[in-house]
Amino acid sequence: MNKKSEVEIDQKKLQDLITHYNQERWPLIPLLQKIQDEFGYIFPSSIPLIARRLKLHPSEVQGVISFYAQLYTEPRGRKTVRVCRGTACHVRGGKTILKQTKEHLGIDEGETTDDLEYTLETVACIGVCALAPTIVIGHQVYGNLNPQKLGQLFKRNGG
Ligand code: FES
Repeated sequence: MNKKSEVEIDQKKLQDLITHYNQERWPLIPLLQKIQDEFGYIFPSSIPLIARRLKLHPSEVQGVISFYAQLYTEPRGRKTVRVCRGTACHVRGGKTILKQTKEHLGIDEGETTDDLEYTLETVACIGVCALAPTIVIGHQVYGNLNPQKLGQLFKRNGG
């Protein structure tokens, strides 16, 4: 496992970030975003520190993190792979594309590869239904996929 462990987290940097914010309730979300930007995710042991500093209960901090889908308590990959599970993609083989993407990456939906390169998600529609079935790797959209094209795609992207 190459995942960044919490032991490697720069505790001084974390303390500086928390100190930078006032002891009010409103800066919680900006602080959480800042910590995530800095470390890639909000590691669980930071939650009591944040709560103490902002005079909140840890469950309140956890509640806010759980509410916002853009806040993560697990390390994320450098690139997010989004496989479309919309109707247009589904009828053109989207299910197979998802299955093969999982096999290529060796992970399931919501998981991140051990090298922290990819996180796999599915989305309701990428918005380019005419190109179904589709996938997004990082910010790049790929369409008209079939199993061979998908294989080449991951070869090019190092997956
Ligand atoms: S249904 Fe897949 S892009 Fe719209």
